Amino acid sequence: MRSILVMNPKGGCGKSTIATNLAGYYAERKKNVVLVDYDPQASTMDWLAARPEDRPKIHGIAAWKDAVRVPRDAEVSIVDSPAGLHDPQMLSEFLRRAQSVIIPLLPSPMDMRAASRFLSELMALRRVVNQEVRIATVANRMRDHTLAALSLSEYLDTLRLPDGHKLPCLAVMRASQNYVHAAERGLSIFEFARSATLQDREQWAPLLRWLNSSRSQP
Ligand SMILES: Nc1ncnc2c1ncn2[C@@H]1O[C@H](COP(=O)(O)OP(=O)(O)OP(=O)(O)O)[C@@H](O)[C@H]1O
Ligand SMILES: [Mg+2]
Repeated sequence: MRSILVMNPKGGCGKSTIATNLAGYYAERKKNVVLVDYDPQASTMDWLAARPEDRPKIHGIAAWKDAVRVPRDAEVSIVDSPAGLHDPQMLSEFLRRAQSVIIPLLPSPMDMRAASRFLSELMALRRVVNQEVRIATVANRMRDHTLAALSLSEYLDTLRLPDGHKLPCLAVMRASQNYVHAAERGLSIFEFARSATLQDREQWAPLLRWLNSSRSQP
């Protein structure tokens, strides 16, 4: 089973947006998807509750209160983590079952400062040092030609894995109402008309290629 964790302790950076869109993407591709929500805010479970009956089913687990029993036939597990996750022991616990970790980052000085603290905690964890998990970032809510976007790009260029290789940034996602509409309706952008979501799909492509390749697996 593929297991993907979306994580960044900074609130509002796009964890649930990425987790739900990924879930919709794999469900649309006829995979058995389990979506595990560790956040008592329950954004991901609310998204699932809004999902139309006629869309491919996604199995949800409200992991902040229920036991995590992953169905035997699950092919992809996507874990949405809560904001405020800093404790190294808790971080290790989340990483324990993950093959691939996606870290969304926003183009704001406050988010970048918070990310630096989180990334240094993350890079010191045993599973990361031993390359038992693969990590990538996603620049989210990027607006072209803004100073904020430029500083995030420059910041992303400086990030390194424990072995000295560059921490890959696999998608630059624009701010788009498509994400807002998709969130409201329990859908992913991959379930909207191709013509209306072409730019967003193109922005997801490198991340999806990475997730569908061995590069994202230990
Ligand atoms: N690329 C985007 N374009 C437009 N809106 C976005 C985008 N990404 C996220 N949003 C919106 O920003 C808000 C925060 O996103 P989201 O809930 O995914 O963040 P989060 O990291 O899960 O937050 P929390 O830490 O509170 O769980 C949501 O209203 C979401 O719809
Ligand atoms: Mg969330």
